[in-house]
Amino acid sequence: MLNAKKIVVGITGGIAAYKTILLIRLLKKANAEVRVVMTPAAEAFVTPLTLQAISGNAVATSLLDPQAELAMGHIELAKWADMVVIAPATADFIARLRVGMGNDLLSTLCLATSAPIFIAPAMNQQMYKRSITQQNLQNLVNEQGVLCIEPESGEQACGDTGVGRMAEPETIFEFLTDYVKTAQDLQNITVTITAGPTQEAIDPVRYISNHSSGKMGFAIAKAFAERGAKVNLIAGAVKLDTPQNVKRFDTLSAIAMEQKALELAQQSDIFIGCAAVADYRVKEVATQKIKKTDDSDEMTLTLVKNPDIISNVAHLAQNRPFVVGFAAETQDLQKYAKSKLQRKNLDLICANDVSNGQVFNSDQNCLHLFSQKSDKILPLADKSKLAQTLVNEIIKLYKEKQ
Ligand code: C5P
Repeated sequence: MLNAKKIVVGITGGIAAYKTILLIRLLKKANAEVRVVMTPAAEAFVTPLTLQAISGNAVATSLLDPQAELAMGHIELAKWADMVVIAPATADFIARLRVGMGNDLLSTLCLATSAPIFIAPAMNQQMYKRSITQQNLQNLVNEQGVLCIEPESGEQACGDTGVGRMAEPETIFEFLTDYVKTAQDLQNITVTITAGPTQEAIDPVRYISNHSSGKMGFAIAKAFAERGAKVNLIAGAVKLDTPQNVKRFDTLSAIAMEQKALELAQQSDIFIGCAAVADYRVKEVATQKIKKTDDSDEMTLTLVKNPDIISNVAHLAQNRPFVVGFAAETQDLQKYAKSKLQRKNLDLICANDVSNGQVFNSDQNCLHLFSQKSDKILPLADKSKLAQTLVNEIIKLYKEKQ
């Protein structure tokens, strides 16, 4: 279950830190990739060198370490993580996490990540019982979606007996695998997604294209795959890594993309057209490089209309999937998006305002969703977070339609 999962293990200053070494061994045995982040107090209990040897990666300890920031900066680490597991989590760290402080590397990373955060509290039983600690924990779990691996009862290092001992490494490991297992609720769903720009050849060395980065489509593919869906990703001219457990098909032209899309859409439950397909292609692609001529300052290219891929998928007479489109608009967002919803026969359209030119290539986006019956705004967020919310919305509408 944890195979190839990227896990940040955060260690804060408690005696239970020695047990985290065993947790990391279990994670490594399960083929997870582990990067350890320690608070300064944690270093009083276990050494970075030990954790480096166990995790197989350099250990990050300081927010202001120029060397570490050069290697993998804190924001990069926050984005890298599929899961952030803080074990042990002290009362102090829990309090700081609750109020959103960013006064060390680990707390800053928690603020910056969109991955689920798990905490394994460990502290003296009286500190654990204390109402402020309980309030902090309740807020984190109920309001902020943090997952808490409950501490156990028993004899404590300080001599007290009561609840506050960190859960055993095996228990934490099981909690994480169970989480991944139950998060796989879309195993019976097949999704096909187009992403990125098409490239329309002019001659063997030149082409017409656009500024789409493909990031949104790739983020949606990742979000579906993380929930166990079978994902086909038809990529245009995109230089992005393929997300885990996603089947990628590289295409360049709209014609090639359409061919693959029609083939895969008919085997899919859901089709999402995220690609920025060129509206036109060059009528006759030159077989040799076109040469500059001296007799004229102008040259003319004749363009012909490309097929509308998503519209053709949405008008399939047989095996039509649930179809989701995108609309990047610079004006009259609602009017144009709704008319595309009708004209292209879509089930849902996700509109975004690109008038300020900040969506293409950006890591953030916000969307206005329109279906036949409803509309909803998904506020500005990291594309990865937004993709997770969007998957929920798509699944809700898809299930309503069944
Ligand atoms: O018409 P417009 O390009 O604004 O429509 C955007 C939506 O249509 C997106 O979902 C895009 O992927 C899809 N599209 C397509 N084939 C085209 C043009 C757009 O699939 N030729």
